[in-house]
Amino acid sequence: MNTRARSGLVVASNRLPVVVVRHPDGRCELVPGSGGLITALVPVLRDRGGVWVGWPGTCGELSSLESELAAAGERAGYRLEPVSLTVDEERKFYQGFSNEIIWPLFHDLQSHCNFDPEYWEVYQRVNHRYAEALARHCREDDFLWVHDYHLTSVATELRRLGRSAHLAFFLHIPFPPLDIFLKLPWRFQLLRALLDYDLVGFQTPRDLRNFLGCVRHLMPEVRVQGRRGQIQTLQLDQREVRAGSFPISIDFNAFMKRAAASEVGEKVVELKAMLPNRELIVGIDRLDYTKGIPQRLRAFGHALERYPELHERVTLIQVVVPSREEIPRYHDLRTEIEQLVGEINGKFTRPGGWVPIHYVFRSLTGTDLLAYYRAAQIALITPLKDGMNLVAKEYCACSIEEENALILSEFAGAAAELQHGALLVNPYDIEGMAEAIHRAVQMPIDERRARMRRMRRVIRNHDIFWWVDSFLRAAIAKDLSAFPQPDDYVPQPESGWPSV
Ligand code: UDP
Ligand code: G6P
Repeated sequence: MNTRARSGLVVASNRLPVVVVRHPDGRCELVPGSGGLITALVPVLRDRGGVWVGWPGTCGELSSLESELAAAGERAGYRLEPVSLTVDEERKFYQGFSNEIIWPLFHDLQSHCNFDPEYWEVYQRVNHRYAEALARHCREDDFLWVHDYHLTSVATELRRLGRSAHLAFFLHIPFPPLDIFLKLPWRFQLLRALLDYDLVGFQTPRDLRNFLGCVRHLMPEVRVQGRRGQIQTLQLDQREVRAGSFPISIDFNAFMKRAAASEVGEKVVELKAMLPNRELIVGIDRLDYTKGIPQRLRAFGHALERYPELHERVTLIQVVVPSREEIPRYHDLRTEIEQLVGEINGKFTRPGGWVPIHYVFRSLTGTDLLAYYRAAQIALITPLKDGMNLVAKEYCACSIEEENALILSEFAGAAAELQHGALLVNPYDIEGMAEAIHRAVQMPIDERRARMRRMRRVIRNHDIFWWVDSFLRAAIAKDLSAFPQPDDYVPQPESGWPSV
């Protein structure tokens, strides 16, 4: 089936791939946005063309930015259509409902939620605005693909506007189990809104199971029919809704090629000269409490305590990319991380020599990011929960010598696909993580190579183009039996650590 035969692709996500930075002198600059959604969708739009509707990250009047966004779209090979938010909407829709309610709740951190009733109303209003923008920029036969938790109600709003065909949604973050989802005061509305799409996609079979569990419990009028291949069909109001799991990925070949570029190689040599004769361990995360950074730092400190042979043999490079700092909890997290780095370095640093943690707090350039991936023999990626975690896949794609080890949280979506190559850890288990660090450092090169090859094979076969193709096929296919079930991950009962 040719998924390109359809008419245009119109994508909506809260953020455009570029962010407008307003300087104090009034000048505006477009800089690349960060996060996995952007990394994943940019190659898709570049490859297929289309329209990307989203917020450029600045409030107020956008007309002055039209020509710059048009030029950026021209360069990128697809159109960028901005949606504007007021300061109040940024506070209540973006920071509020999206990032103080859905984000923590869907990552199982209900105690971090602020269920302010005002947020819901503004969330609906902004979803309506996105629906209007989509309706303005699409033709009747275009495929409308809405992304992520900020925009769950866009299909409902589009249907109100008279648009009812080719509406699909992909959730980039986890979908929580019933007991947690039930805490949401707007649980019926949100679930009902998702069922207004024709296809709802999740990252892993676990997320799909959680979603179906919530539908069965909260909406008995919906008939959850048998699974055909990987796709589940649901019947409601004479309509068929499809739901499936589609693990998102990266442009594997592009990462591999860029990692091999000479300027990256030079940076790697520079880094290794600066931090000589040791194993480099890298962690790269947006500033986010779901990424488990304090727990990881404690585990690294514990490993240094427990295994003195690691002293002067390892350095942890922890990169934290600034994110959502207007939200107090994110601000506090930065303070906590910096205190922990200070404590661990204060305790173990050798005068005039080894500093155990090399801490970087900023957005990286592409070359620096790739150089960190290539220079580090071990990646330590331990989110408390994560939809997928593309950093893990990027690290493997950049491991062109195939001699590196990946320590990965079992609660990252990526664990399902990478479980046969990574050292899987429970990010709440400080001792287990310390042991994994020690084991990775000691791991013979043959074992590292065999594990890395397995992971690279999976990511190469299931890259971002495979992902988009399987999603679009699931949206339009008449026969669903050809869709294989993606890998699942369930911790083994006998496994303490490590569960590989
Ligand atoms: N990344 C970035 N800027 C940086 C460092 C990393 O945009 O300075 C990218 C990284 O390459 C990856 C994404 O941010 O593609 C993070 O995606 P992930 O799925 O790991 O987590 P998310 O941030 O989406 O929660
Ligand atoms: C995650 C979310 C994305 C979001 C990104 C960056 O990847 O799934 O939707 O864009 O984080 O967060 P931000 O709040 O800066 O858009």
